Amino acid sequence: MKFIGQVFLFLANLLIIFAKSPQEWKSRIVYQLLTDRFSQSNSSSPCQDLSSYCGGTFQGIINHLDYIQNLGINAIWISPIILQTNNGYHGYWAQDIYQINPHFGTSQDLKDLVNACHSKDIWVMLDVVANHMGNQGNINDFSYFVPFNKAEYYHKYCIINNWANQTEVEICRLAGLPDLDQSNSFVSQTLLKWIMEVVSNYSFDGIRIDTVPEVPFDFWVKYAKSAGVYSVGECLNGNVGYVEHYQNALSGMLNYPMFFTLRDVFQNKQSMDQLRARISEESTFPDITLLGNFIDNHDNPRFLHQNGDYTLLINALTFTIFQEGIPIIYYGTEQGFAGGKDPNNRESLFGNFNQNHILYRVISTINKFKLSQGSDVYNSQQIQRYSDDQFYAYTRGMIFVGVSNLGSNGHSVHTITYHPYSNNTQLKNALNETDQVKVNNGKFQVNIWNGQPKLYFPN
Ligand SMILES: *[C@@H]1O[C@H](CO)[C@@H](O)[C@H](O)[C@H]1NC(C)=O
Ligand SMILES: *[C@@H]1O[C@H](CO)[C@@H](O)[C@H](O)[C@H]1NC(C)=O
Ligand SMILES: *[C@@H]1O[C@H](CO)[C@@H](O)[C@H](O)[C@H]1NC(C)=O
Ligand SMILES: *[C@@H]1O[C@H](CO)[C@@H](O)[C@H](O)[C@H]1NC(C)=O
Ligand SMILES: *[C@@H]1O[C@H](CO)[C@@H](O)[C@H](O)[C@H]1NC(C)=O
Repeated sequence: MKFIGQVFLFLANLLIIFAKSPQEWKSRIVYQLLTDRFSQSNSSSPCQDLSSYCGGTFQGIINHLDYIQNLGINAIWISPIILQTNNGYHGYWAQDIYQINPHFGTSQDLKDLVNACHSKDIWVMLDVVANHMGNQGNINDFSYFVPFNKAEYYHKYCIINNWANQTEVEICRLAGLPDLDQSNSFVSQTLLKWIMEVVSNYSFDGIRIDTVPEVPFDFWVKYAKSAGVYSVGECLNGNVGYVEHYQNALSGMLNYPMFFTLRDVFQNKQSMDQLRARISEESTFPDITLLGNFIDNHDNPRFLHQNGDYTLLINALTFTIFQEGIPIIYYGTEQGFAGGKDPNNRESLFGNFNQNHILYRVISTINKFKLSQGSDVYNSQQIQRYSDDQFYAYTRGMIFVGVSNLGSNGHSVHTITYHPYSNNTQLKNALNETDQVKVNNGKFQVNIWNGQPKLYFPN
């Protein structure tokens, strides 16, 4: 027994050595894809029905890793991988946690995917669910599920109605889905062992955790430890005080409070000064540099759905990619997808791998510029340099990031007096070769044409 314990410790240590630490994840730019929607293995038949399987596979992802890498991406977030109840194309409706979803491929295909990614220095983040199982017909029949096949593994039937009642959020059903009872030791031990094994069996580099506030905080502390890799949790809530608490359990949280502000200022053109207020409010997070920042995902209508101005989207992306935290870009944003509510925001990318799309090219330029600066950017503090209703700027190290909500016809001029550059420094815009400014008498002017963002760096 003691020997087995030592072997186990040894293996656990090995895992820690090879696993990517939360700090290392700061060097990443993540691409969130839905495995069912990214690419089919061999063909590109159009998806007939976005509320059901469209045919994307692990092999399909392997086939398009160059498309991902050329976009300046060095990590992907894939859908949950396990066998689903009917129509669980998204992966959030588990039936058997020990089987790989055959729609996506085999366990070997998944290993091949992770290997293919690693050979290109692309890290893989797995989406996981520990709150609930899938939807099955009869609310009292659990025989269907593996291994949670008895009523005792679930909370008694109730539906979450009052989101202000935390007990209800934790013990009742989200959208009617059978709610696992993590206070049952078989349930918690099984889930903890599962996450450790799945990370190790497939060499995942990180995990994205679904429905965090629907499960008691103490369980997540154990779960994150058992996973042993960077974890980023989902709490679909704009309240900083509520979301930040969970970062005491997980490495990071998806930055939903900032998401709402980004939508307000860039999509709805509200005052940019709200960014200043939000950033200041978020200083209470245990570690803002490990949050996952995003402007699009699979649970919200796409940015372009409500505002089709690419220029505003590019400003929002520029802000997000360079801000403290780990940027996450939702697949399809780079092809100008503009789908509305779920499932319309889960379009198939099949046959759309156009590397000349204007958004693909701009995002690629922004990402590659950031990656070229390495830790000079991601280990540097974000310092606010300017804030008013239309323009917001910050620096990270020697990079000046300036964004506006003017839109494609907008023009404005702003004088920057607070910055890290010495007199006479020539600044060049990484997004526009001809755009250069000189620091004069301790200041420089930002001249915005056509609402374009600025990524100034000293020449
Ligand atoms: C891909 O195509 C080949 C040959 O056309 C076929 O043998 C294989 O089963 C296909 N793979 C998948 C996953 O559909
Ligand atoms: C919160 O929900 C629980 C479970 O449904 C219930 O027992 C409790 O009375 C509720 N508390 C309040 C203050 O409504
Ligand atoms: C991990 O691999 C081991 C050995 O093949 C297997 O027994 C176990 O069920 C796997 N666990 C998961 C969660 O895939
Ligand atoms: C690039 O910068 C120049 C000024 O040097 C400006 O005239 C031009 O409009 C800018 N191009 C774009 C696409 O913003
Ligand atoms: C900056 O340089 C200008 C001349 O180019 C000089 O007049 C000015 O005093 C300098 N300002 C500072 C703050 O060094």
